[in-house]
Amino acid sequence: MNRNMLKTLRERAVRVLKANDTGAYTKPSPGLYPHQWNWDSAFIAIGLSHVDEERARREILSLFRGQWKNGMIPHIIFDPDSRGYHPDPAYWGASRSPMAPEEVSTSGITQPPMLAVAAWAVFRNSKDREHSLDFLRTVFPRLKSYHAFLHRDRTVGDDGLAAIVHPWESGLDNSPRWDEPLRNICMDWQPQYQRHDRNVVPADQRPSDDDYDRYSYLVEFLRSLDWDEERVLTECPFLVQPVLFNVILLAADRCLKQMAELLGEDTYEIDHWISMLERGIVSKLWDQDKGVYTDYDVRGQHRIVRNTIVGFMPLYAGLVEAETAHQWAKRLKSGGEFWPEQGHPFCTVSVVAPEFDPMNYWRGPVWINMNWFLICGLMDSGFEVEARQIIEKTLTLVHAHGYHEYFNPFTGEGYGGEGFSWTASLVLDLIDKVERCD
Ligand code: SER
Repeated sequence: MNRNMLKTLRERAVRVLKANDTGAYTKPSPGLYPHQWNWDSAFIAIGLSHVDEERARREILSLFRGQWKNGMIPHIIFDPDSRGYHPDPAYWGASRSPMAPEEVSTSGITQPPMLAVAAWAVFRNSKDREHSLDFLRTVFPRLKSYHAFLHRDRTVGDDGLAAIVHPWESGLDNSPRWDEPLRNICMDWQPQYQRHDRNVVPADQRPSDDDYDRYSYLVEFLRSLDWDEERVLTECPFLVQPVLFNVILLAADRCLKQMAELLGEDTYEIDHWISMLERGIVSKLWDQDKGVYTDYDVRGQHRIVRNTIVGFMPLYAGLVEAETAHQWAKRLKSGGEFWPEQGHPFCTVSVVAPEFDPMNYWRGPVWINMNWFLICGLMDSGFEVEARQIIEKTLTLVHAHGYHEYFNPFTGEGYGGEGFSWTASLVLDLIDKVERCD
């Protein structure tokens, strides 16, 4: 790729991250998301590790401020000086749980557990061996306690899969995958709240009012249980085992195992988590008819079959046999389903799916983190040429249209939050991947 283009991309990415930096952590996009988010900070740390390793370590450490006594890392840690975001700390009422931290206000749910993956990447990209080993020693027990929470408090039955209790925990809020389980919630009352997001972003790029009613109802419902995890698991009307969440947990467990080995810690429990998850994902979430992975609706007791990019995510955890990986690489590239001709890879929902919408949040637009997962998966499975092509397409898209939250797969037009931190940080990581290949 053109060196000047890479240089410009890198400089602009660093500028975005600096603009969103609070010193201790980086806001995803201060107008739309004015607090700290869990998996955002993980992606941000991966990018920062290429430009400022000390700052990358701080990004990760700052998330542990919000860790609950049961190990959960919440999906939001609130900035007390930023107001107007819905739901705010009072609406969450997290302090009703004895598990919540006292020093900071947080949400009551988690997000895809990218943190151990990020911590391991920050360690591996570090040049300062001494500080990075200290960092690993500090984060390891906290990460292990986070994973123990997911494997203990979020598993139902004996399939080893973690379940989520809110679409926000999936990270892909209004993915069509959650349409049916959300609509099946019988709302016993009308939630009382005001949306803030549409003051910042046009309505046609954001989840619908009906979605927001259900998101807010679930927060009110879980709050009414005082965030008691035992009751949450048995009573929450939304309970789903998502493939991406579990694939990330598996990748993160493996990173945790590598940390444990390096630090001379016992790996018995982690080994058990890994083998349970590997088996659970393959045996329960694989859809033989469609040839892709699905999510499982625990309440509805069936697989959720929707044609979205998430079906291919087990590539990221190397769970896919060579023959399937080969077919997927072909399917993703041609056929126009996820990569429109003359357009940009990858649509988050297949162009031919009835729910596809090229402008609306997780219902079609290109997201840089989804591309990043597939790029990593393709590289690890030996599809370097394909991975390289997607890196080039992704970097060209951002270079031409800016560091937006998501993009129209046909035109490249950017939507959602402006100056979006994980777009910038993953651009830095993709540039690093290009330079390593050269
Ligand atoms: N993604 C959610 C939002 O749109 C929060 O996690 O605010």
